[in-house]
Amino acid sequence: MASSFTVCRLHTIGRGSLVKCLQKVDTFLHRNIGTNVVAVQEEKNGFKSLNAVQAERQEQAERSVLISCRSRTNEKKFLKYIANYGDIQKYFFYESYGMYAVVEFANKESVASLFEGTAIPSISHESLVPFKSRLLSMRNLDSVDLPNQPSGKKRQAQTSIPINELIQRLSKEESIDQQITSLTEAYQLTEENCRLRFLVCSLLKDIAAGFFPECTIKPFGSSVNGFGKLGCDLDMFLDLDGISGKKATMPKSGLFLEYQMKRANLERIVTQNILSVIGECVDQFGPGCMGVQKILNARCPLVRFAHQPSGFQCDLTANNRVAMKSTELLYLYGELDPRVRHLVFTVRCWARAHGITSSTAGAWISNFSLTVMVLFFLQRRSPPIIPTLDHLRDLAGPEDKSMIEDNDCTFVSDFSKIQLESNTETLEQLLCEFFEFYASFSFRTLSINIRKGKEQNKPEVAPLHIQNPFETTLNVSKNVNASQLDRFVAVCQESSWLIQQNNTAPSRDGTKGKANITPWGVSTLLLPSQVAGIKSRKRRIFESSSDRIKSLLESLKNTNNQQNQS
Ligand code: GTP
Ligand code: MG
Repeated sequence: MASSFTVCRLHTIGRGSLVKCLQKVDTFLHRNIGTNVVAVQEEKNGFKSLNAVQAERQEQAERSVLISCRSRTNEKKFLKYIANYGDIQKYFFYESYGMYAVVEFANKESVASLFEGTAIPSISHESLVPFKSRLLSMRNLDSVDLPNQPSGKKRQAQTSIPINELIQRLSKEESIDQQITSLTEAYQLTEENCRLRFLVCSLLKDIAAGFFPECTIKPFGSSVNGFGKLGCDLDMFLDLDGISGKKATMPKSGLFLEYQMKRANLERIVTQNILSVIGECVDQFGPGCMGVQKILNARCPLVRFAHQPSGFQCDLTANNRVAMKSTELLYLYGELDPRVRHLVFTVRCWARAHGITSSTAGAWISNFSLTVMVLFFLQRRSPPIIPTLDHLRDLAGPEDKSMIEDNDCTFVSDFSKIQLESNTETLEQLLCEFFEFYASFSFRTLSINIRKGKEQNKPEVAPLHIQNPFETTLNVSKNVNASQLDRFVAVCQESSWLIQQNNTAPSRDGTKGKANITPWGVSTLLLPSQVAGIKSRKRRIFESSSDRIKSLLESLKNTNNQQNQS
């Protein structure tokens, strides 16, 4: 076991799950590598705040290196070679346009010592940018075909399984609740993927640290809020608060020194200038960073690029503290009750399968808006599954106080203060009710508001109005046009009907094989044939409901036949 490539897949489900997951990994690696493993400190009630998780992950990332293993490398030899430079705390391999290894040393000094032993590439026809980073290549001068190469099974890609495979997998489950759990397990970020995200932030930080040695680069959004799907983008936040936020105490009298600093009229201009320079450095010096675009005139200026070794699409922002707070809030809600994450994953996956959401920006509903819609629905259950944001603010202590540009972003960070009500609804009930709730929601007049946990009158004209939880005068779904909202409502109506018609697993005849797997339950909601069958609400008005149902049944039958024939 110790010699096999340790790409393991661990999942985080439920309350305090990230902590448990970290412990699982630590136990696993402790067994396999036998190094001293730092015990994960649990906080009150088994919960860890996102800030505590981030700090721990950042520290791990700083002790880590990313190594491309293009030359044929035997695992044992590889580890033996790397171990010359220090104790290996953890390691894993993954595939993304070639084999890569993430190696975490027990201490930072080992990285420095590895650098001492690392050669500068010798090239003859090109010139090198002499920027050294923790992205390295393992070369092998003995080009012999060595055994102990990672087998196909161990070369895990860092992307999610294709939808057809997911449909097959879900069809084999016994209940809708199991299907939903299985969907979350298939799609959520793995432990390794999460580590890799922090490592990429840490590599980027090394570039930015050339100008701002005290900066940090933190992931935010779905990479860390608990709702990330394998393959989701990596949103990064260049945090310079460590520099500008640290104000030395002024003496009451006498001499003191202050830094001379350049000034600009607006904070936005400072952010744009900083991102412009960092973006240029990423483009010119960043190994593995491709297709750098500086999108500085956006509402939130950003630098977008592809990090080829990890396969992540990256968005680097600065001065984006409200988004950091939204991330913390979503993380908190996801940790409060396991049903939150399961429902968000299922709804996100369903929405993607039907083209309600997209990976590109446009007039459609974003994953963030959709997540807020799920949270609002869960607040509207009787009794509510999650509390309102106002309630979380009321529970906050002085240490939680947070004002960002006049926006009150305060909410409780001590999970043990939050008392949940005893709602016992199953995932199946919740999913069906979700579709019904939004199939008949009065979007024309009402706004979705997770701060109050109640519908409010729309303050402005927009097809879909979801109040921004912290910048309360803003609508997070301002981009959504009427036809996209109509599509969402239409698919909710169809899905509500479909799930009720297909809510029991077909009886199995005991024979094994594909022919026995008929899509049912959640899998019918993801079928591509349904996507093609959904029409916009305007056209549907002219179609009788029996015609619609007939065509749905027909397409379902066709899909089943195709499955049985293959
Ligand atoms: P995916 O990337 O689609 O998986 O989801 P995501 O949650 O990461 O969304 P996205 O990359 O679009 O945005 C990253 C984060 O920025 C979100 O999780 C939010 O915290 C924040 N964010 C995005 N859009 C808005 C918005 O309109 N308002 C506010 N307040 N925050 C937003
Ligand atoms: Mg994102």
